[in-house]
Amino acid sequence: MTFNPTANGSSSLVSPDISAMPPQSGAPLKLGVMASGSGSNFEAIAQAIADRTLNAQINVLLYNNPGAKAAARADRWGIPAVLLNHREFASREALDEAIVETLQQHEVEWVIMAGWMRIVTPVLINAFPRRMLNIHPSLLPSFKGNRAVEQALTAGVKITGCTVHLVVPEVDSGGIIMQAAVPVLPDDTLETLHDRIHIQEHRIFPQAIAVAASQGSD
Ligand code: GRF
Repeated sequence: MTFNPTANGSSSLVSPDISAMPPQSGAPLKLGVMASGSGSNFEAIAQAIADRTLNAQINVLLYNNPGAKAAARADRWGIPAVLLNHREFASREALDEAIVETLQQHEVEWVIMAGWMRIVTPVLINAFPRRMLNIHPSLLPSFKGNRAVEQALTAGVKITGCTVHLVVPEVDSGGIIMQAAVPVLPDDTLETLHDRIHIQEHRIFPQAIAVAASQGSD
């Protein structure tokens, strides 16, 4: 059997099975999304909400790099975007205090780190206990930290992927909510492999939010 790298829609490479999603009843989840760059995961979540596959609303997008494409995407969706430029804060904690304040002002319940390229501190994590998710471009616990895709290429693994996990103070180490496997092909470059991982990220992130919410925050 060949491994089909473009397989889309099959749940065989995703766990837990996204064809058996928990029911999403009740009020929409109020999300705050944090992104540093392109924001394609932000867009995938916004699209899933528009498609009604995720019962949620994005109350605010926070971004830290002026000119981040994520902000332009938010604008197109009519979602408020707030710039908190980390260069203007004296410490990680000071930035995180401003983040908490902004998220609370927008009545956010779940914090979604969708390509937020800053380390977060307990100031933020403790304000949303078990209500913060991150997406990481590897099958954790392999290849934590920066340059996960490059690490996978260098290691010569034949399968990598992406992981949605709860955020805890130790980087890329919180409880795993959902993972998707992605093959590494012989001619892969950083870009081709990351593109293939991105496709799966967009597929699992909205679903993982629903799964995490169904598990509650206790
Ligand atoms: C994703 O690959 C994510 O796993 C990593 O940063 C990237 C963000 O991509 N944490 P985008 O900004 O959502 O396009």
